[in-house]
Amino acid sequence: MKRLRVGVVYGGRSSEHEVSLASAAAVFAHLDRERYEPVAVKIGQDGRWTLAERPPTIASAADTILQPRLDQARTNRSIREVHVVAHPSDETLLTIERVEPGHAGADHTGDAIVNGLGLDVMFPIVHGPYGEDGTLQGLLELANIPYVGAGVLAAAVGMDKAVMKELFAARGLPVVKHQVILRQTWRADRSATIDRLEQQLRFPMFVKPANLGSSVGISRVAEPCGLADALDLAAQFDRKIVVEEAVTPCREIECGVLGNDAPEASVPGEIVTSREFYDYEAKYLDDRSVTTIPASLDPDQTDTIRRMAVAAFQAIDGAGMARVDFLLGRDDGRLFLNEINTHPGFTTISMFAKMWSASGVAYGEMLDRLIALAIERHTDKQETRTSVTRDPTGTGTSDR
Ligand SMILES: Nc1ncnc2c1ncn2[C@@H]1O[C@H](COP(=O)(O)OP(=O)(O)O)[C@@H](O)[C@H]1O
Ligand SMILES: [Mg+2]
Repeated sequence: MKRLRVGVVYGGRSSEHEVSLASAAAVFAHLDRERYEPVAVKIGQDGRWTLAERPPTIASAADTILQPRLDQARTNRSIREVHVVAHPSDETLLTIERVEPGHAGADHTGDAIVNGLGLDVMFPIVHGPYGEDGTLQGLLELANIPYVGAGVLAAAVGMDKAVMKELFAARGLPVVKHQVILRQTWRADRSATIDRLEQQLRFPMFVKPANLGSSVGISRVAEPCGLADALDLAAQFDRKIVVEEAVTPCREIECGVLGNDAPEASVPGEIVTSREFYDYEAKYLDDRSVTTIPASLDPDQTDTIRRMAVAAFQAIDGAGMARVDFLLGRDDGRLFLNEINTHPGFTTISMFAKMWSASGVAYGEMLDRLIALAIERHTDKQETRTSVTRDPTGTGTSDR
């Protein structure tokens, strides 16, 4: 059997660059080499795509801040850039090797050697903006190459906390009471904005930039005097701000989803944070947060959460995978959908992997499934007509 060449794309132009390296290291460690031939495509923090000399390892992922500069220093005689050809062709990904003068094989300054990468499928492990927000997915769509995970729409909606709430609510899924404020509106009339929020929502509130992750720019506001600072902070990160009522006291329950048109839910898990809420510190710097898998819930609650996770996935037209996060009122038992993550943390100790492992799907098998789902979705899409007129040749290329 021919091995599939899998382009694992990782890194990226976002504050979640390091998280991505750790996730990618786990993928490289677990892809079955009898079935797959992984190719490491790294996106630097400057946004440049290069073919990595070696894939990231768990150890190398740890000292990543220095990594881009080290890579640069090591390979500055010949850097193999990766370029996606943004139209369908047999070779949609190319490496361009720029060879410095004096380097073996170079006759002239700036010689370039162009090679096809021959990839069968792409596996984006890039979190945050420019990775899981539909932009990367759009590029891969133009190139017509199968890729793992959400398509353009699901990825974009999964990044936008305001739009995802609208889609959830339209399906009758419970979301917390909230308001969406444009940065412009806030800056134009601060006191009117604050008055309006105080009338419409109860404290404590959460103030969040609409499009971000890892709790960056998010504040919990207990009293009116904290609102202005929280809005100023969120406004630094996005033009759109979501202000919502806090569920308090609150349990945080998560559920994994795998599949395309017939998605399945994992057992739910719970995160117990040592801090006031699950903020950036709690996620990455403080190891006192504890996870319980399966979450301690009664069978009805578990059932509801799994059904809602699948419904949330379908509400955004998800594909491949997602992690769906819930807020559960500790006192009143009220359940709310908090958000869906189309590119969740993906190490073997990430919630997503641990919830699937507890559901009987080990990490390696999860990778197999995701790659199969990517190819299934791509094959399905090829059946879609791109022309309104009947094409007598059957090649589907006629537009008029
Ligand atoms: N309405 C809310 N009620 C209670 N806690 C919340 C609420 N919204 C957010 N949080 C807390 O803030 C954390 C981060 O918010 P979240 O919306 O999940 O953003 P991110 O995309 O950055 O993970 C959550 O994990 C939770 O601890
Ligand atoms: Mg979250």
